[in-house]
Amino acid sequence: MKALLRIMVVLLGLGFIGIQFVPVERTNPVVRADLEAPPGVKSIFKTSCYDCHSHETVWPWYSKIAPVSWLVARDVNHGREYLNFSEWGLMDAEEQIDLAEEIWEEVAEGKMPLAIYLPLHPDAKLNDSQKETIKTWSMRLHEAGIKPPANTGVKQTGSLTVTLQQEDSKEDPDEHEKHHNELD
Ligand code: HEC
Repeated sequence: MKALLRIMVVLLGLGFIGIQFVPVERTNPVVRADLEAPPGVKSIFKTSCYDCHSHETVWPWYSKIAPVSWLVARDVNHGREYLNFSEWGLMDAEEQIDLAEEIWEEVAEGKMPLAIYLPLHPDAKLNDSQKETIKTWSMRLHEAGIKPPANTGVKQTGSLTVTLQQEDSKEDPDEHEKHHNELD
């Protein structure tokens, strides 16, 4: 009986070592068009969301050990598909507004950040004032992009302004700062 137990432990150990060789996609691709948002908003996203929704994932030591590594990599790769702050600027204004609304919905419903993430990242838990900040940011983007009545065919909308401001801000860091302060 003891011998059998020993064999099982050895097999389990070998199995554990064996699964470490299963390749896991743990990447941090180049940040191409990071979210532009007031610093107060951005720092919340950075602390609470960026590990799963950007190319700036901090991969902790346990994310390198199977089978936990599989779960973490799955959440990150899956999370980036839905929302990737590192590619935010590649979306047009309308997509940004839709996604900002979805962000607020997920936060309001308490679905994000994912519960599984919180025990090891207590800082990521959103308090009421942080939620309020996200709500305000999302609503302002929405208001800036309110579409004209469908029948006018007029294309000049707030969302156009949002796009232009973002392009400006890339060229001129001062202008960018001003824009942030206005929003703050
Ligand atoms: C531990 C990883 C993780 C963290 C942290 C995280 N998310 Fe997610 N998020 C995911 C995954 C995985 C999905 C894919 C769909 C799902 O599982 O609901 C997702 C989906 C989403 C979606 C799309 C939902 C849908 O169904 O279309 C939004 C919006 C979102 N997250 C916002 C956020 C915001 C905002 C934060 C920070 C406050 C955040 N997430 C933090 C992993 C995470």
